[in-house]
Amino acid sequence: MAGHIGPSVYCKSIKDERGGKNVDKRESMWDVYLRKGMSRRSFLKGCAALTAMMGLSSDKVAKVAEAAEKKPLPVVVWIHGHECTGCDESFIRSAAPLASDVVLNEVALEYDHLLSAASGAPFEAHLDEVIQKYKGQYILAVEGAACTKDNGVYCMSGGHTFTHLLQKAADGAAAIIAYGTCAVSGGIQAASPNPTGSSGIAHFTGSKPVVNVPGCPPIPEVMTGVVMHVALFGTVPPLDSEGRPRQFYGNRIHDTCYRRPFFDAGMFAENFDDEGSKAGWCLYKLGCRGPETYNSCGNMRWFQGMSYPIQSGAPCIGCSNAHFWDEGPMSRRLPQFSPAVDVDTIGAGLAAVTAVGVVGHAAASVVQKKKRIAAEQAEKGSGEE
Ligand code: SF4
Ligand code: F3S
Repeated sequence: MAGHIGPSVYCKSIKDERGGKNVDKRESMWDVYLRKGMSRRSFLKGCAALTAMMGLSSDKVAKVAEAAEKKPLPVVVWIHGHECTGCDESFIRSAAPLASDVVLNEVALEYDHLLSAASGAPFEAHLDEVIQKYKGQYILAVEGAACTKDNGVYCMSGGHTFTHLLQKAADGAAAIIAYGTCAVSGGIQAASPNPTGSSGIAHFTGSKPVVNVPGCPPIPEVMTGVVMHVALFGTVPPLDSEGRPRQFYGNRIHDTCYRRPFFDAGMFAENFDDEGSKAGWCLYKLGCRGPETYNSCGNMRWFQGMSYPIQSGAPCIGCSNAHFWDEGPMSRRLPQFSPAVDVDTIGAGLAAVTAVGVVGHAAASVVQKKKRIAAEQAEKGSGEE
């Protein structure tokens, strides 16, 4: 995608208004659309997709379009530390907005370890040039953990440690986005016994604001939504106490889970191939970490709303939680997460005494279904005797 090095394709030299000196003019998103011969309609469609993705209501489309028309494309530097590149793999699957639109038309992606075609010394020199030229203006996106053991030698980039690069790039950044659980809290590299001394990036970014976008990987549209919010509004989105954008991490997986009525009714799959599992019952007893995990999988889902782990029959493993790799085995509940009361009765109890968002009719009907399936199984069992 972003293959250029040297003078940016998003920036041209023009005479300043008073004549005389040449000054750099950076293109806006609308300028890029015009340069590529794209229609006003596709520009507005792109703005509408961005508005939805940023979690804003449709009456904000005009404001987004205005910003996209006038504001110069934000310069983005995207670096990768200790990781598997899964976050970029997720990012390039963003459908609304399309990742290619974001990278080619909506931000000036000047450096990306994975997506840029360029490499080697000229590419590193380009990075230094960008950091100098846009000091205090660029967005720094970071994937991967910072590796600290033995002076960081287990993760190198351009002949330097990744932590050196991270500090250098963070120093001149206007805002920093930590993409993925690795960048936020160390991820799998930091799993016990953490042989490379990996940690989240926050130890190396000073007092700069960091937007934490955890997930292993994060949802593609969450990734594009966050970078475009910073790009268009010049501010970080509203964050929770853990530095996560509230619009994407404000709900527990459990609270948006379509299997929630089964939890509330005390109907749980006990094995991956039992009747409850086939009937789509709650996966809590198979290790589901939905009750303690904040993410948008339940409402946005993945790949244009196609599915998400729980819909595919797999419990949520809490991939947006810090240190989730150390909380195995993944398919079993751990004592520290177990409710104080017996899980078979908690759901029915909650449904009776608290407002859990499940109407009585739904809870009653699943209880009836549970009884019916139990009766059918008993009948089948007696028939076999
Ligand atoms: Fe859904 Fe998991 Fe909660 Fe069950 S425990 S309702 S499967 S999130
Ligand atoms: Fe991760 Fe759980 Fe979503 S495992 S992808 S936060 S359903």
